[in-house]
Amino acid sequence: MVTTLKTQTLMDSRFLKACRREATDATPIWLMRQAGRYMPEYRALREKYTILELIKTPALACEVTLQPLHAFNLDAGIIFADILPPLQGMGLELDFVRGEGPVIYNPVRSAEDVDRLQVRPAEETLAFTLEAIRLTRHELAGRGIPLIGFSGAPFTLASYAVEGGGSSRRVKVKSLMMNQPLVWHRLMSKLSEVAGDYLLAQAQAGAQALQIFDSWVGELSPYDYERFVMPYSQRAIEIASQSGVPIIHFGTGTSGMLKLIQQAGGDVIGVDWRIGLAQAWEMLGDAVSVQGNLDPIALFADWEALKTRATNILDSVKGKRGHIFNLGHGILPETPVENVRRLVDFVHEYSQMLNQEDVTV
Ligand code: CP3
Repeated sequence: MVTTLKTQTLMDSRFLKACRREATDATPIWLMRQAGRYMPEYRALREKYTILELIKTPALACEVTLQPLHAFNLDAGIIFADILPPLQGMGLELDFVRGEGPVIYNPVRSAEDVDRLQVRPAEETLAFTLEAIRLTRHELAGRGIPLIGFSGAPFTLASYAVEGGGSSRRVKVKSLMMNQPLVWHRLMSKLSEVAGDYLLAQAQAGAQALQIFDSWVGELSPYDYERFVMPYSQRAIEIASQSGVPIIHFGTGTSGMLKLIQQAGGDVIGVDWRIGLAQAWEMLGDAVSVQGNLDPIALFADWEALKTRATNILDSVKGKRGHIFNLGHGILPETPVENVRRLVDFVHEYSQMLNQEDVTV
């Protein structure tokens, strides 16, 4: 028998196979916000550059994207960027203020504000991220690691555009939606074109998968989601789908509207820890892959407590194809690095063992 050393191609990667619900030797894992402040390498760069400088300098964005891929045995990279620069491209004045997070100095509050928003191609307004994708793709060549591009979903983008920054109850954005439906629909229509075009451009620049982040959609009732948000997420995903690459549709607090989220589109549905992963998958049915759903706080626990929770997730979906292990939301800045390393290795080792058990039974 001739043994051939099989070089792993991208399409054969665990991550892309799981997106297609094909069998994998082990469960793939990547972590939302895997490049960031919990890593000393990232903090060192942040002493020299602002976050917007990191994002807008393709060589730096590429370097940051690769940091977690060098440090851990992750199955996918995610391009270092943020969901907010597309708003800058539309004419909003964005900054990240230390201790406060993102701020938009000229938020959208009226019909005139919406009229002023520009819908321009990503090649013009977000060329830096497209270039960072090309560079990173080049650096990753031959390593068999797919790269994920991403965008905020229309509602989550609207929530920053209208609130002018982060907000706990999202009173302004939801009031605009409820009180001025025509203005709202115009705003969401523009945001869906921008998000869809940006996602498509990232796939064309070399991303093998795309994630749409609807981080704050769980603030909505299913009634409002269906009428005021879903058609626009659907539109963005429809545009992005022209690329042919798998799309991950992520939201938090979505337990009560998972079917609607799925209806808006996506090959993989991302869920948070507020619902059991097996229960979420049962609601969604077998036609989709799922991504999640460890509580990011579990990474602060002792190893045994963390391991128990990772084990529980893997056991709960044992024998099913199409699980991508991830956190239920982004990794937090104070997360201990050692726990990340142990989690990534554990997910591979333990899932491999479960798969072998499956074969011998
Ligand atoms: O996952 C990755 O490694 C890629 C990078 C990435 C960032 N932001 C870098 C970043 C991704 C995927 C995002 C998405 C993002 N940005 C979301 C959706 C995901 C989620 O967490 O819900 C949202 C809502 C944002 C908006 C945003 N960006 C906020 C609210 C903040 C400030 C809050 C904070 O954590 O400080 C940012 C800044 C930001 N984006 C940082 C990073 C690494 C921290 C900034 C710093 O370095 O000081």
